[in-house]
Amino acid sequence: MARGVNCIAPKTIMNLIMLISVLCLCTKSVEVEAQASRLPAAEVEALNETATQVGKKDWNFSIDPCSNDKNWNTQSADLSLYENSLICNCSNPDGFCHVVRIVLKGQDLAGVLPPSAAKLPYLTRVDFTRNYLTGTIPREWASTKLEYLSVNVNNLSGPIPGYLGNISTLTYMSLKNNYFSGTVPPELGKLVNLNSLILSANNLTGELPPALTNLTKLTELRISSNNFTGRIPDFIQSWKQLQKLEIQASGLQGPIPSNISALSNLTDLRISDINGTGSEFPPLSSMTCMEYLLLRSCNLSGRIPTYISAMNRTLKTLDLSFNRLEGDIPDLAALTKLKHLYLTSNLLTGSIPNWIKGRDNQYQIDVSYNNFYPSSEPACGREYLNLFKSFSARDKSSFGECQNSYPCPEGNNISFRFKI
Ligand SMILES: *[C@@H]1O[C@H](CO)[C@@H](O)[C@H](O)[C@H]1NC(C)=O
Ligand SMILES: *[C@@H]1O[C@H](CO)[C@@H](O)[C@H](O)[C@H]1NC(C)=O
Ligand SMILES: *[C@@H]1O[C@H](CO)[C@@H](O)[C@H](O)[C@H]1NC(C)=O
Ligand SMILES: *[C@@H]1O[C@H](CO)[C@@H](O)[C@H](O)[C@H]1NC(C)=O
Ligand SMILES: *[C@@H]1O[C@H](CO)[C@@H](O)[C@H](O)[C@H]1NC(C)=O
Ligand SMILES: *[C@@H]1O[C@H](CO)[C@@H](O)[C@H](O)[C@H]1NC(C)=O
Ligand SMILES: *[C@@H]1O[C@H](CO)[C@@H](O)[C@H](O)[C@H]1NC(C)=O
Ligand SMILES: *[C@@H]1O[C@H](CO)[C@@H](O)[C@H](O)[C@H]1NC(C)=O
Ligand SMILES: *[C@@H]1O[C@H](CO)[C@@H](O)[C@H](O)[C@H]1NC(C)=O
Ligand SMILES: *[C@@H]1O[C@H](CO)[C@@H](O)[C@H](O)[C@H]1NC(C)=O
Ligand SMILES: *[C@@H]1O[C@H](CO)[C@@H](O)[C@H](O)[C@H]1NC(C)=O
Ligand SMILES: *[C@@H]1O[C@H](CO)[C@@H](O)[C@H](O)[C@H]1NC(C)=O
Repeated sequence: MARGVNCIAPKTIMNLIMLISVLCLCTKSVEVEAQASRLPAAEVEALNETATQVGKKDWNFSIDPCSNDKNWNTQSADLSLYENSLICNCSNPDGFCHVVRIVLKGQDLAGVLPPSAAKLPYLTRVDFTRNYLTGTIPREWASTKLEYLSVNVNNLSGPIPGYLGNISTLTYMSLKNNYFSGTVPPELGKLVNLNSLILSANNLTGELPPALTNLTKLTELRISSNNFTGRIPDFIQSWKQLQKLEIQASGLQGPIPSNISALSNLTDLRISDINGTGSEFPPLSSMTCMEYLLLRSCNLSGRIPTYISAMNRTLKTLDLSFNRLEGDIPDLAALTKLKHLYLTSNLLTGSIPNWIKGRDNQYQIDVSYNNFYPSSEPACGREYLNLFKSFSARDKSSFGECQNSYPCPEGNNISFRFKI
């Protein structure tokens, strides 16, 4: 075992464990206290207004909202509690219950984000994922103590409001899949407790503000599918705790700054579709806990570095397709966890190494559209291995033979894409 290398448990699992223990706590206290309804009248009224604003029609106020009744909390055996629930904390010194969490996911709600939620002083978590809510994030929320804010997959639009920067308690914020436009406000740099910032799939433009360097606790940053301009900033090196970084088709230009080498905790790095100046492979040798590495269509040239084999304890997916990488495929036989290898459309030469040929059909490997020497060809393709146009055109005879005797396998969805 390599000493000093300490891969951290995946954040999501830790979060889930925390969430479950918190929910158990809440459920317990609710059961004990259910006899006496003790949600303060002001919170009942705020909930009533919240329901109207968001478009929630089936909350039944003749039932105590903290009673854990199924009218409030869908609690079948499965995890649907996470979809539709209102959670109170009834273990308070003041003897009252308080609303701490509102989760309304996939409820076809067509209202707005409720300004009245700000009247619930103990609210820490709101999740309105997958609805049709319009407008923007209400100004009233600037004064809340929210820790978790998710409005994924809604119809929110306009600029991201700068006053979001006032919710300094936030540790998680996801605005993905909406119609937010304009630039990222520098005020977000005030959210110094943020662990996760997710802005993917919006219509954001301009450059990332340098104020974001103050988000030093970030472990997850996703900004894919936007219309940003400028280069991937070299200040990404401020986010030293980052585990997940996703910049796919964001509009940002290359090259990938060498400063990325500082992010040694990365486990999941996905960068794709960057134009601009090409570069050699970015320096990633410090990232020995990498699980998912995708650098697709990044205008990379030069050779695939051998240090990738030091990611042997964790790397599951390696996608370097659509670059201009050349030379041999290095010896990555040590990557025993590797399941997916995509090297499609590069300028790779040499032979297809034995460690690739030796893998069985639990793997998906695509080395199509390269310049390997035809003599290196294994007994034509196998189901898991797409060799379509992977060989240099010099020896047409053996290439043609392979195509005839073993066409691109139908079962392999990866190869489909390259059938013209
Ligand atoms: C609300 O709950 C009360 C008490 O359980 C019940 O009598 C009433 O029918 C419910 N109203 C609706 C609209 O479901
Ligand atoms: C909720 O608000 C409506 C008016 O919008 C009111 O008629 C109703 O009594 C309120 N219910 C509660 C429980 O406050
Ligand atoms: C409930 O509130 C009390 C007092 O503020 C706090 O100590 C406790 O951690 C809270 N419980 C949950 C499950 O949030
Ligand atoms: C949400 O946006 C989609 C796509 O623009 C649109 O078709 C739909 O009508 C909108 N829905 C609402 C409730 O605004
Ligand atoms: C945000 O905080 C600033 C500085 O404390 C304050 O001036 C501003 O009014 C706040 N904005 C909102 C919408 O509460
Ligand atoms: C994105 O912004 C551009 C320019 O501001 C605008 O033309 C386009 O309609 C927007 N797209 C969406 C999906 O909102
Ligand atoms: C980061 O925060 C500090 C302290 O609030 C502030 O002085 C500095 O200007 C911020 N950095 C950037 C780049 O905005
Ligand atoms: C991105 O921005 C450019 C120029 O500002 C514009 O022409 C283009 O339509 C935008 N694309 C999208 C998907 O909004
Ligand atoms: C990024 O690295 C380059 C080259 O090493 C260096 O010149 C630059 O100052 C670094 N950027 C930051 C923000 O430190
Ligand atoms: C990586 O994560 C560990 C554990 O969270 C932390 O102690 C360490 O400082 C991080 N590495 C860097 C370079 O910040
Ligand atoms: C990258 O360049 C291609 C070809 O010039 C162009 O079609 C594409 O829109 C560009 N992408 C970005 C993100 O600028
Ligand atoms: C994994 O890589 C480390 C660092 O290069 C090395 O010390 C270790 O022997 C490798 N383990 C295997 C199973 O190859």
